[in-house]
Amino acid sequence: MRILKAVFCYLALACAMAAQTANPTSWGSDPQVEAKIDFLLKQMTLDEKVGQLVTYSQGIPTGPGTSRSDYKELVSKGRLGSIFNLTGASETNAMQKIAVEKSRLHIPLLFGLDVIHGFRTEFPVPLALSATWDPALVEQTARVAAKESRHAGVRWTYSPMVDIARDARWGRIVESAGEDPYLGSAMAAAYVRGYQGAKLSDPESIAACTKHFVGYGAAEGGRDYNTAEISVRTLRQVYLPPFQATLNAGVASFMSAFETLNTVPASANAFTLTQVLRKEWDFKGFVVSDWNSIGELIPQGIAANHSVAAAKAFTAGVDMDMESDAYGPHLAELVKSGVVKESAVDESVRRVLRVKFALGLFENPYTNDKVSSEIAAQDADLARKAAEESFVLLKNEGGLLPLKAGRKTIALIGPLADDAQQMLGAWSAKGEAKDVVTLRSALTKQAKATQGRVIYAKGTDILTTSDKGFADAVVAAKTSDIVVLALGEDAGLMTGEAGSRAHLDLPGNQQQLLEAVAATGKPVVLVVFSGRPLVLNWAAQHVPAILEAWFPGVQAGSALANVLLGVSSPSGRLTVSFPRAVGQQPLYYNRFNTGRPAGSTDLSRPPSTSGEKFLSRYVDVPNSPLYPFGYGLTYSTVSYSPTAVSVSSVSAKDLNAGTAKLTVTAEVKNTGGRVADEVVQLYIQQRDTSVVRPVRELKGFRRVSLPPGSSQKIEFTIGRDELKFWNIDLKDVVEPAQLTVWIAPDSASGSPAQVAIGQ
Ligand code: NOJ
Repeated sequence: MRILKAVFCYLALACAMAAQTANPTSWGSDPQVEAKIDFLLKQMTLDEKVGQLVTYSQGIPTGPGTSRSDYKELVSKGRLGSIFNLTGASETNAMQKIAVEKSRLHIPLLFGLDVIHGFRTEFPVPLALSATWDPALVEQTARVAAKESRHAGVRWTYSPMVDIARDARWGRIVESAGEDPYLGSAMAAAYVRGYQGAKLSDPESIAACTKHFVGYGAAEGGRDYNTAEISVRTLRQVYLPPFQATLNAGVASFMSAFETLNTVPASANAFTLTQVLRKEWDFKGFVVSDWNSIGELIPQGIAANHSVAAAKAFTAGVDMDMESDAYGPHLAELVKSGVVKESAVDESVRRVLRVKFALGLFENPYTNDKVSSEIAAQDADLARKAAEESFVLLKNEGGLLPLKAGRKTIALIGPLADDAQQMLGAWSAKGEAKDVVTLRSALTKQAKATQGRVIYAKGTDILTTSDKGFADAVVAAKTSDIVVLALGEDAGLMTGEAGSRAHLDLPGNQQQLLEAVAATGKPVVLVVFSGRPLVLNWAAQHVPAILEAWFPGVQAGSALANVLLGVSSPSGRLTVSFPRAVGQQPLYYNRFNTGRPAGSTDLSRPPSTSGEKFLSRYVDVPNSPLYPFGYGLTYSTVSYSPTAVSVSSVSAKDLNAGTAKLTVTAEVKNTGGRVADEVVQLYIQQRDTSVVRPVRELKGFRRVSLPPGSSQKIEFTIGRDELKFWNIDLKDVVEPAQLTVWIAPDSASGSPAQVAIGQ
């Protein structure tokens, strides 16, 4: 009778709640939701509470897991509140039915999945999406991913990945928005807006999860899961801002990272998880661990067993255990023995339930929608547009691109010219190779339309030592007017999780193939498919045109054919520095000057004076990248006027008070004959400050489309937000400084203007 009454009250409350699910940006502020949670918490046993703090995977292991499969039993007993990697309306509904109908308190399950750059409609990989410098477009892609996921029963994605990635050896750089915190923050917030929409309870919204909190991208040597040492100031200045940007955008959950951060594993790190995330940022959603990252506290060396690991992770601030089987079997006994307070467990359960309420799961636990058997036309269009905007034209000597239409024969050579699966990139959720348009199929079709012809030769595999395909490739090149070479990495093996590389060259014998084909003397366009910056020195010297295509998603071929043939122009810009040698890693533009800056090093002769020798430089390679952050060409040319600033001096006091701002302007002009999509970038440098500031920092950007001959005045406003930094006292303030500003096409050029920031 008591149970029936409880269920009745609960249902009444749920109905009252239905119309007013929490606004995702104001977690924890809805008294009705909180009352509802109080009510549930009162009914829950300790084991049922712990159940809400556990998530297990249905297959797809990405590390040592629990190997459990007794999910139905656990769900029916209220001992499992979330399952991931289970998809499909009927599959999720069947499991949900057990939770809603058989478990004592009928609390619905939360289904999660790694929806990273699309669910079925695979968009370009995140690194490529960042190269669009178009957050509104990224938001749209996330919206499509949310819609498709939701239709398949998935309500929670482990995205966005907002780790700052400054080391190209790290495989997971492909999942990031690159090396810059300002751009990274803009992209991070865009993903959250896209996934979560205006309301989490909307039928096409899902909860986002910002990962990996925090510092995972600074893994030493670029080796995955490795240790990171980051000063507190750099953590706050560089690594934390994209996480905070997602919090401000209302993200529902965070994922704690794998690595040991400053000697304390990120999944047991009270400084980041409690001090920063809860106390300073007042985050009201929940934190899930990464896969087995609580169990990994044992090999990391701070826990003797799963019980200790559970205690350490939980008290540090991890609410939910993913796949470690540490909380499930041990959290209740830790409460009983007094190691963990039940009130703390209640608080974690509250955070999880908040998200379930906000998603409308209590009112609408099932998925009614049918998953379409095909990608919707408008979503395919968006995938094509995103890919076109993400390609970065690195070199275009003599205007070789766009290829002149007409009765030309194109030799299309290389292992990535016709490999549909590779185009999907790492973490491709439910992407299907059959949806992919390859470069071969699109280029053949488009060339035919202008009476041109494409001869295809694979040449080699991505990773092989056999050169038996070289001869055919060379013949194809010789019998053509122009060669398009499609070379690059293996998306599954070399990019994404556990995809770190110690070499950054074209894998296998692709470099030899490139040289053999170039030796024919035919003009070569190199299209690079990669999840990271590669070392492209030889190509930069010997090949007239290079297009970085990343892994472009389902519309790879259509987008590439459009760009190669000039139907559209490449307009992406690098968000990662392209090195000259792997030994330059980690390489990033927003570095510090040293006491012995090298300037432009002349490596053609040995240093002749001690002033030339004892500098911060390599003796065998310049310090500069081959292609810098922010760089990318278009089919037109754009000129920049000198940078102008509204005032020559301003006071730090007024900037801190928000009563002063600077206006920075420049005029950009399309001096070529085609429309130019330009990404205008604003950089600053501060000197004479209490701590060393980077040689340049991005503080604004604008994507503009300029018709031939037209010019546009671009204006940026700089105030407190752009100028504050974590100073010597670890205060986030504007200090008096000598300020230099640039409005520039990339991080290595532009004309500077000066402003004195006084007291
Ligand atoms: C491990 C990865 O680090 C993380 O990014 C992912 O979300 C989880 N596995 C779940 O698949």
